[in-house]
Amino acid sequence: MAEQRSGSTEAASNVRERPIVESGSAVKARGLEGVIALESEICFIDGQAGVLVYRGYDIHDLAENTCFEETAYLLWNGRLPNHAELDDLNETLRRERPVPERIIDLLRAAPADASPTAVLRTATSALAHFDPEADDMSPESNYRKSVRLQAKIPTVIAAHGRLRKGQEPVAPLQEGSIAHEFLYMLNGEQPGRAAERTFDACLVLHAEHGLNASTFAGRVIGSTLSDIYSAVTGAIGALKGPLHGGANIGVIRMLLEINKSGLDPAEHVKDKLSRKERVMGFGHRVYKTLDPRAAILREMMEELSEERGERAWYDMTAKIVDTMEGEKGLYANVDFFSASVYYMLGIDPDLYTPIFALSRTAGWTAHLLEQWTENRLIRPRAEYVGPRGLKVPHIQDR
Ligand SMILES: CC(C)(COP(=O)(O)OP(=O)(O)OC[C@H]1O[C@@H](n2cnc3c(N)ncnc32)[C@H](O)[C@@H]1OP(=O)(O)O)[C@@H](O)C(=O)NCCC(=O)NCCS
Repeated sequence: MAEQRSGSTEAASNVRERPIVESGSAVKARGLEGVIALESEICFIDGQAGVLVYRGYDIHDLAENTCFEETAYLLWNGRLPNHAELDDLNETLRRERPVPERIIDLLRAAPADASPTAVLRTATSALAHFDPEADDMSPESNYRKSVRLQAKIPTVIAAHGRLRKGQEPVAPLQEGSIAHEFLYMLNGEQPGRAAERTFDACLVLHAEHGLNASTFAGRVIGSTLSDIYSAVTGAIGALKGPLHGGANIGVIRMLLEINKSGLDPAEHVKDKLSRKERVMGFGHRVYKTLDPRAAILREMMEELSEERGERAWYDMTAKIVDTMEGEKGLYANVDFFSASVYYMLGIDPDLYTPIFALSRTAGWTAHLLEQWTENRLIRPRAEYVGPRGLKVPHIQDR
């Protein structure tokens, strides 16, 4: 349990009187762009310099030198674990990995063509019914539930990934890392060392990203003092959108289309731009330069494509990147390269967003724990621009 999580349910409901705007005045920003909604110690992003830091550690350092479980511990506790603490976390994650049989029944009941992200959203909500401490808002319980969700979400995604193909779920081994166990539960065979390491690094890279739309959605829900399952379910709903986590599915669809049709990648992208269509995997609300996660993933993807004799795939993506930078001044974001990395690892395209959720669960829950240490209800206002002074006519006169 984290030292800074001390306190009680009472402390969690203690509202801090510190408005970000003077009373009577208001900030107006479409899409809340540029608005600082809260203070956080979890993540620092410099969108001009392309810097991403979790709890003081640069993302390059974390991707190179930590596993996903260490990163999750860091996000939750504000410091890296020592050996004993990491062993302890791994043991809890392994113990918590199985999901109730009735959750498997629920996954079985989903139509085969249901979106895996939507199924994950439903199952995450349903997990609450099987957790006796679902509504316990003590910091200790919320920490335990963060770890529990992190343990069970990979099992849910893998089980559904198989069921929808008519295959039976594979029970977790309860002995490996999240990366190892997830790939094992999904494919029914142990992953190779390189695949596990690459996947694990992807999880580290996607674990946290400040007050992005899904984290914000989660914190908004958490700020009403609703439970952690509700907040993570809401966050998954926000992640599903194609402008957020759903972008990686759009990316792979585009790459597969170009690859299959033999179209020139540069022409294809220029065509899209001339039709004012968005090219998935490019642009970012915060980064105005290369997303550092994209830079790391690009290197990983180049290595993978060399290893697998698929250099042409890498060249295709490189052409798209050059065209987007040249034509529109837009840089690739994390989703552009993660889509290709997951493709090289043989993962089905529509699982990319649930995998993003798997990893971002660490960030979402870290933000919720932080939200509840000094909760203040998140409740912006809208500027009313509709009519006024109307009188209700009799129903026969409408
Ligand atoms: C992420 C995203 C929503 C950020 O958008 P934003 O900060 O609201 O930026 P805007 O939508 O205001 O876009 C600014 C300009 O760039 C253009 N643009 C932004 N992203 C673009 C993209 N991916 N493809 C084509 N044009 C894009 C917009 O059309 C707009 O051009 P205009 O000024 O000529 O009208 C946006 O870049 C996007 O839709 N990207 C594709 C989806 C994606 O990859 N999401 C994952 C993010 S990690």
